[in-house]
Amino acid sequence: VRRTAVLRREAVIVTVPVALAALLAAAGPAAAGPLGASGVGDPYFPLAGNGGYRVGHYDLTLRYDPGSRHLSGTAVLTARATQPLTRFDLDLNGLKVTGLTVDHAKAEYRHDGQELVVTPRRPLREGRRFQVAVTYDGTPAPVTDPDGSLDGWIPTDDGAFVAGEPQGAMTWFPGNNHPTDKSSYDFTITVPEGKTAVANGVFLGARTARGQTTFRWRQSEPMAAYLATATVGTFKTERYTTRDGIQVYNAVDPREASAAAPVLKQLPSVLEWESRLFGPYPFRAAGSIVDRAPDVGYALETQTRPVYDSAPDLSTLVHESAHQWFGDSVSLTSWKEIWLNEGFATYAEWLYSEQHGGKSAQQSFDELYQRPADDGLWAFPPGDPGSGANIFGTPVYARGAMALHALRKAVGDRTFFRILRAWAAGHRYGHGTTPQFVRLSERMSGKDLDALFQTWLYTPGKPGTP
Ligand code: ARG
Ligand code: ZN
Repeated sequence: VRRTAVLRREAVIVTVPVALAALLAAAGPAAAGPLGASGVGDPYFPLAGNGGYRVGHYDLTLRYDPGSRHLSGTAVLTARATQPLTRFDLDLNGLKVTGLTVDHAKAEYRHDGQELVVTPRRPLREGRRFQVAVTYDGTPAPVTDPDGSLDGWIPTDDGAFVAGEPQGAMTWFPGNNHPTDKSSYDFTITVPEGKTAVANGVFLGARTARGQTTFRWRQSEPMAAYLATATVGTFKTERYTTRDGIQVYNAVDPREASAAAPVLKQLPSVLEWESRLFGPYPFRAAGSIVDRAPDVGYALETQTRPVYDSAPDLSTLVHESAHQWFGDSVSLTSWKEIWLNEGFATYAEWLYSEQHGGKSAQQSFDELYQRPADDGLWAFPPGDPGSGANIFGTPVYARGAMALHALRKAVGDRTFFRILRAWAAGHRYGHGTTPQFVRLSERMSGKDLDALFQTWLYTPGKPGTP
């Protein structure tokens, strides 16, 4: 009896490689290898995101202590394999993993720079849905971007300013850190009583026990990882529902409160104005996080609830709000096409001014066009910034907006605004590329616009004809 049992076990061992070989053969020569790639192939951020799977949902449970700056967390990812996988990566920078399971079975892992390399006990077949649970902790620190700015988990004097564009999501949770992959999120964040933890989407409630408060948030509409936040601080908070049924939650650093109040008050009317121009606001929640953070130097359009490093002016509020349509609902497929976010949000500022008694968009355009040929505005073309160090440069924002203004002049106001709405509606919760935008513009206007986009988006130097 004992002998046969041993034999049977050997037989099982023999069949495993055979089954694996069959699986690989069935995948065919066109399928990628069984190892998930370490990046999605972004030319500026080659290790951003990962190959071989998509994440449907993140369930993040975090605990942060601003005093010691210690973060501990559990991330449960629900994912689907898009190819056979014997191994795959998650992006995670700097924190220590203490446990990892795939479908509740302990999996092997190895941390290599910003890649967490996971080997599930058994290979995943293509199309397979699976769950990855990662427990981790440490002292999160931001990453330094190619342009020298900080992004990710940025400690402040009373908590942390959390903004992940383009790479920083990996500084506080493991995931598929590239905008090509969008997911829903649940957040459960515990902080010392008196602190507030603000994430994306709808506020589900807060409970205090034993000196700790747990905040719960739900982001139901798909979101790119870089747009997630879990900003922690001492905040004055306010909640209300707009007449369009949008749930607003504001969190404001008391030191910024008096400067922020008159601007934040305008959020419902800004969203209404943008909805008339761009189509329905894409999310059920909205709001603002104003968190004094002197090391940051920018605001970010964190989904549903932009985060500002100080009290914003109205134009910045308009800009981050416009990103909810352009950047958040309609996402990039490559950081190279960042003008689709920044050019559009900047043009929204111009339009707001034009329709509220300020400068016309034509005046904004003309003032920029007067800049000499050696001005930084013309340093590189917005459709091809050349490197990750340039993605937040003036040409992306200002010349990107000029490209849209040139389009508006060429097709007329009626068609131009129809194009903006069709873009937001047609790619809602998904992705859009520059060639798709060019084709849409040509289809809706019936004009050949190749030369126009070539001039404004791709030709180095100051364009010769405005
Ligand atoms: N997208 C932000 C804006 O509204 C800018 C983010 C800058 N990020 C950075 N790491 N420098 O324009
Ligand atoms: Zn922007």
